[in-house]
Amino acid sequence: MSGFPQNFLWGGATAANQFEGAFLEDGKGWSTADTARFIKENGISMTELLKPTTRADIEFAMNDKEGVYPKRHGIDFYHRYKEDIALFAEMGFKTFRLSISWPRIFPNGDELEPNEAGLAFYDAVFDECLKYNIEPLVTISHYEFPLGLAFKQNGWESRETIEAFERYARVLFNRYKDKVKYWLTFNEINIIGMTGYLSGGILADGEKNMLQAQYQAAHHQFIASALAVKACHEIIPDAQIGCMLARMEAYPETCNPLDVMESVNSDHYNLFYSDVQIRGYYPSYMNKFFRDHNITIKKDAADEQILREGTVDFMSFSYYMSSIASHKKEGDTTGGNLLGSKKNPYLEASDWGWQIDPVGLRVTLHKLYDRYQVPLFIVENGLGAKDVVESDGSIHDSYRIDYLRSHIEQMEQAIDEGVDLMGYTPWGCIDLVSASTSEMSKRYGFIYVDLDDEGKGTLDRSRKDSFYWYKKVIETNGADLS
Ligand code: BG6
Repeated sequence: MSGFPQNFLWGGATAANQFEGAFLEDGKGWSTADTARFIKENGISMTELLKPTTRADIEFAMNDKEGVYPKRHGIDFYHRYKEDIALFAEMGFKTFRLSISWPRIFPNGDELEPNEAGLAFYDAVFDECLKYNIEPLVTISHYEFPLGLAFKQNGWESRETIEAFERYARVLFNRYKDKVKYWLTFNEINIIGMTGYLSGGILADGEKNMLQAQYQAAHHQFIASALAVKACHEIIPDAQIGCMLARMEAYPETCNPLDVMESVNSDHYNLFYSDVQIRGYYPSYMNKFFRDHNITIKKDAADEQILREGTVDFMSFSYYMSSIASHKKEGDTTGGNLLGSKKNPYLEASDWGWQIDPVGLRVTLHKLYDRYQVPLFIVENGLGAKDVVESDGSIHDSYRIDYLRSHIEQMEQAIDEGVDLMGYTPWGCIDLVSASTSEMSKRYGFIYVDLDDEGKGTLDRSRKDSFYWYKKVIETNGADLS
């Protein structure tokens, strides 16, 4: 017996832009992710991902014949989904998190009629999941923003994007109402506060105050998400729909009250998004932030009511690492999920500098459950690492097993201590292209994909040691983690 509830949703997570491939196939339009170039020297660094993107940058990428653009090719899930889902089923997945590519359904983002070939593809994928009793968990928008809307109206900075999104979401709910019961609106919605282009389609040209544009875009995403929640409840009454946050747990560097205050500020900056989506109104602490950064959010009269009526059913989040909040700037720093951090002397880090902190996951689970009292769902977690294929084809990824085991142990303790946790879908259950660096060599999967950073390889799939380990974890509902 383990402490996990019988209906616990074990599975794995992916996103269309990082694994589907089939770039511009069957009517798909361009997305922001399709312009991410892999730079050979160091991979694309965080700074470049967070860098403002101009129209010229995009046009360069669209016309570039020399560069490598791994997200256009992914791992070819589009043509290999049957084989991949069969492998997920073999591990015993109860759920599979995937996203729908908006430009596969509406190539420009705002057509009046959807692309039937795109819809049919996801029908086939969901049917294949359901054949094995795997519940699809669908993210409506995961960094697959249609480039057409970036060019036409500067993406989410424009209020008009809400209408396009609502139409897109309604098409999905109507089409898949009998197949999909778990939905997420925006992946890591807080990323819009850090970078405007990737999830927001905001171009830097002519922007005098980029933060103003990003927070205006966040407001539009809040409204769009709330309208989608309402539509989902109307169209699929037995479905559950959640928000999704990149959770950034930041410990005070010392017990100096100024460091503690920095950690409160860091929580505000991070939890602002889930506060709006779960409580249904803007938290007062943001007023000062907006004043300090010359931000004025334009709102319609009806917005308050829309937010109040469109609160989510559960909270999902990604958790990879913890970080440090400090009132002092100086000190050694390390890498991280979109934001770097000061080094924590008590923690080891991955090869990419992400600080490994299983107890931090329990801290976060408690903090979120105390704050919101809604069910939680960990929809991303995992270790990005380089794997070695032995001469007999085996892959001994004990480092990945150690990482996952230690996090699952903390989840179980959190449940025992009263947290309501619905499920766990480790990131990149099959190796896929990295969101931040576009590398293939930063692998998270239980399933190895033969493909390198330059896009060369057979694309053959094989089982790592972690595949057999996770299968046993699911089989025993978390009782056997050895
Ligand atoms: C999350 C994203 O931030 O982290 C995923 O939702 C991403 O899309 C994952 O792939 C891991 O990050 P990376 O940069 O290692 O791929």
